[in-house]
This record gives sequence, C-alpha cells and structure tokens, in this order.
Amino acid sequence: MKVTVFGIGYVGLVQAAVLAEVGHQVLCVDVNALRVENLKQGIIPIYEPGLTPLVEKHFASGYLNFTTDAAAGVQHGDVQFIAVGTPPDEDGSADLQYVLAVATTIANHMETAKVIIDKSTVPVGTADRVKARIAEVLKARNVVLEFDVVSNPEFLKEGAAVSDCMRPDRIIVGTYDDRPHDLMRELYEPFNRNHDKLIFMDVRSAELTKYAANCMLATKISFMNEMANLAEMLGADIEAVRKGIGSDPRIGYHFIYPGCGYGGSCFPKDVQALIRSSEQLGYTPKILQAVEAVNDKQKYKLPSLVQQHFGNELAGKTIALWGLSFKPNTDDMREASSRVLMETLWQAGAKVQAYDPEAMEETQRIYGVRDDLTLVGTKEAALKGAAALVICTEWQQFRAPDFDLIKAQLQHPVIFDGRNLFEPRRLEARGFTYYAIGRGETVAKAASKQVL
Ligand code: NAD
Ligand code: UDX
Repeated sequence: MKVTVFGIGYVGLVQAAVLAEVGHQVLCVDVNALRVENLKQGIIPIYEPGLTPLVEKHFASGYLNFTTDAAAGVQHGDVQFIAVGTPPDEDGSADLQYVLAVATTIANHMETAKVIIDKSTVPVGTADRVKARIAEVLKARNVVLEFDVVSNPEFLKEGAAVSDCMRPDRIIVGTYDDRPHDLMRELYEPFNRNHDKLIFMDVRSAELTKYAANCMLATKISFMNEMANLAEMLGADIEAVRKGIGSDPRIGYHFIYPGCGYGGSCFPKDVQALIRSSEQLGYTPKILQAVEAVNDKQKYKLPSLVQQHFGNELAGKTIALWGLSFKPNTDDMREASSRVLMETLWQAGAKVQAYDPEAMEETQRIYGVRDDLTLVGTKEAALKGAAALVICTEWQQFRAPDFDLIKAQLQHPVIFDGRNLFEPRRLEARGFTYYAIGRGETVAKAASKQVL
C-alpha cells in the first residue's frame, strides 16, 4: 500500500520505518528541510534503539523516502498519516495548529479519494475539526472528492518505539462508519498475526482512549510516588510494598515504580490537556489534578534533599549527575526531572557535572554553554571533585557501578538516588550516605548526617 506520513518526529519516523519494513511504500513529509536532508544522508534526528538500521535499509531499498514537497506527499499515499506535534498551548490545552495545517495541506492537494489517519494525540472532537477543515477547503476549490478521517492513536514508548510498533498490544481505529475498515485492516494486517489486534470504535472514543491510557499510567506513577512519600514517613519500604501489590494481577507490576517524577513528551502534556478539556466542559477532574500536582512536587524531591543536605554550603559546590534524559534508552529531555534538578541547583549557586549515554548533545542544545554545567564523557568523569552524586535516570550502566571508585572520587560519599537502584543497607554498610525514594528510614538516616 502507498502510505504518506506527515511529521517525521518520534512517532512519524518510527511508524514510517516499521510500515516500510512490512512492505508498504512510505513517503514522509516534513516542513523541517534540514531534518529531511539529514535523513536522506542517513542522519537520524533521534536516538531510538533499532531505528537507524531500519531507516537506512528501507531508504536504500526505496520503500522509505523523505521530502518537504507536500503536494508530492499528498499525491503518493492512499492513506495520509498526520503525525505532527500537539504541544501544550499557553493554558495547557493541546495546540492543534500543526494538525489543522496538515489537514489544510492535504485538502489543498488532493486529486483522488484519501483516508486521512490522525496519529497525533488530540483532544476529543479533533477528527471532527479535521473533517470540517478538509470539506471546507475542497468546497473552496470547487472539488468533490471522497475522503475518510480515522482516529488511530499511537501507544509507543520512547526507547522501545520500534519494538512497540512492530508488536503493538492493540491497534485502536476510530471511524465515522465502516467505509475505511477494509483499508485499515489491509494496512495493519502484517501486525495482526497471532490474534486480532484491531479494535474498531467511533472516533471520539478512539481519541479519548489515548488520553485515558496515558492518564491511567500517570495516575499509577503519582499514586506510587504518594505511597513512597508516606512509606518514608511511616518507616516502610516502598520497594517491598511495590512487590507486594504488584503480585496481585489486578494491580500488576507495570508502571508502579516510584521515582523522581514522570517526564517525557506525553504524560505531562496529556494529563494537562485532559484537565483543560474537562474544565472547558465545566467538569473538575479531581484525580487528574492530583496526578499532576503530585508529579510536579515529586520533581522537586531530589533538589530539595540536596539543598537540605548541604544547606548553606551548597553554593559553589559541584554536584555529579548521572542521567539527563527523561527515561533510559532515549535522548529526549522533554519534561525530564534532571532539568528541574539542574535548574534548582543552579539557582542555589551550585554547579552540575553531568553524564548521560545519549542525551548530552540535547542538553547542550537546550542550555548552551554555561559555567555551571560541565558535560563529561563517562559516568566516572562526572564524579571527579564533585561533592555528591545524584541519579535521575535508570540507565542500565548505572545499576552496578564501582562503589569504591565513587567513594574515592566524591568529596563526600553521598548519593541521591531518584530511581531506587541500590539496596540502602548495602550502601550504608559501604559507608555511603544514601538518599532514595520511599525506602523506610533511609532518608531520615541520611538526613541525620547532614553537612550542616
Ligand atoms: P515531534 O515533535 O518529535 O515531531 C513532529 C514533527 O512534525 C517535526 O519533525 C515537525 O517538523 C513536523 N511538522 C510540524 N508541522 C508540520 C507540517 N505542517 N507538515 C509536516 N511536518 C510538520 O513529535 P512526536 O513526539 O513524534 O509526537 C507527534 C504526536 O504523536 C504528538 O501528538 C504526540 O503527543 C503523539 N505521541 C508521541 C509519542 C512519543 O513518545 N513521542 C507517543 C505517542 C503519541
Ligand atoms: C508514554 C506511554 O507509556 C506510551 O504508551 C505513550 O504512547 C507515550 O507516553 P513514554 O513517555 O515514552 O511513553 O515513556 P514511559 O515509559 O511511559 O515513561 C514516562 C515517564 O514515567 C518516565 O519519566 C518514566 O521514568 C516514568 N515512570 C514510568 C515512572 O516514574 N515509573 C514507572 O513505573 C514507569
């Protein structure tokens, strides 16, 4: 099948590469000319495991191509994916300007019937707006053409995007009527081997399914962070509690890891957007508001502990930081907890010496060159001369470090662990002052060794 994808970001590029892998002819369109040129030269704009070989292979085979030429894009595909960004507006609601701009572009260049598939995460009612926009432009052009608008939200996780798209748990397809069903089946048939993963529904339910999924997952995390904070005060260990509740299949082990707050391009933005949608309807979504508030506070947990520990001594100190990306296996820094940490430390007059396996270029792009930020090439180099170590992201390579080396390099053997990577008793036995999230009396014990 001939497929066009508008927007070559995380979602568009991964989806395009995976569709090419299963034999569809995919043309990607983006307004970012540099991105398009780079892709043609094999320079991939994001770090995503398994993506580079897939893109290289299918660009070479001709199954995958890139262009800025929107008219050529519209002409190419029987189906036209909209996979552009829906960033938060000033008030937190989803900004639909890019989605509607693509709808206008498609309508401007359409010469044959098309199925327009909305893959971007969009508020309920957006498919109606896309449909209306296309109809309006076609009318202005005085052209009569059949078209369908389908809501087909994406559920991939960054860092596992290729495998998530190759083996989706489900494929949500929201339609106005049955007309596009066969074509959607044909498009996704290669991913539908073991059992039928396509779930057909109406467009509004499909649009809400995406927000409901992300908000449910964010709720689990904020709930666990709240339990972790309580566990700390009650002298209980959240890691034991996590295993205890996760073993109940009704709760499950997924997404109940406490930490230094959720980040990324989806959870914060989507929780906020659903809150705004609800408020516009005159409804107060109390659970979602709490999910957001708990997360905003949790991001300050590590910086507060560091500030508390060093008190007035913090200004002028260098803090080692392991992990900048919002989660492992990505270079994405959007809404990363590390940013709140760094910015709070800088305000307090401290310096940061950081290492991340993939996100350092992105960090440099965001913050530029500054005296109070040094990016170093190894996790060991980050420790050198630093007062203490903070861990914001659970990259695999941080899980079994050389503790003797950490101790030798740091001025004080203090670790602030935002991802609960280590056993408190073992670290304490090795002479570390160890702060973690919700681990019984660990924080209280560590705090008793404050520098003050
Ligand atoms: P992104 O910011 O990485 O990429 C968006 C791309 O769209 C950019 O390359 C931009 O240049 C391009 N673009 C903007 N306007 C355009 C236009 N008029 N024509 C062609 N290209 C245009 O975004 P993303 O992270 O891939 O997210 C895309 C959508 O998918 C969002 O709605 C997001 O919420 C949703 N989503 C993202 C993820 C994720 O993990 N990143 C997962 C599921 C869903
Ligand atoms: C999320 C959804 O999982 C995915 O289905 C959707 O399509 C896009 O949004 P992503 O943002 O890539 O994916 O990453 P995810 O693995 O969900 O992690 C999001 C944040 O939650 C990260 O900061 C992560 O550290 C945090 N998290 C995750 C926790 O703090 N605890 C957990 O148990 C799980």
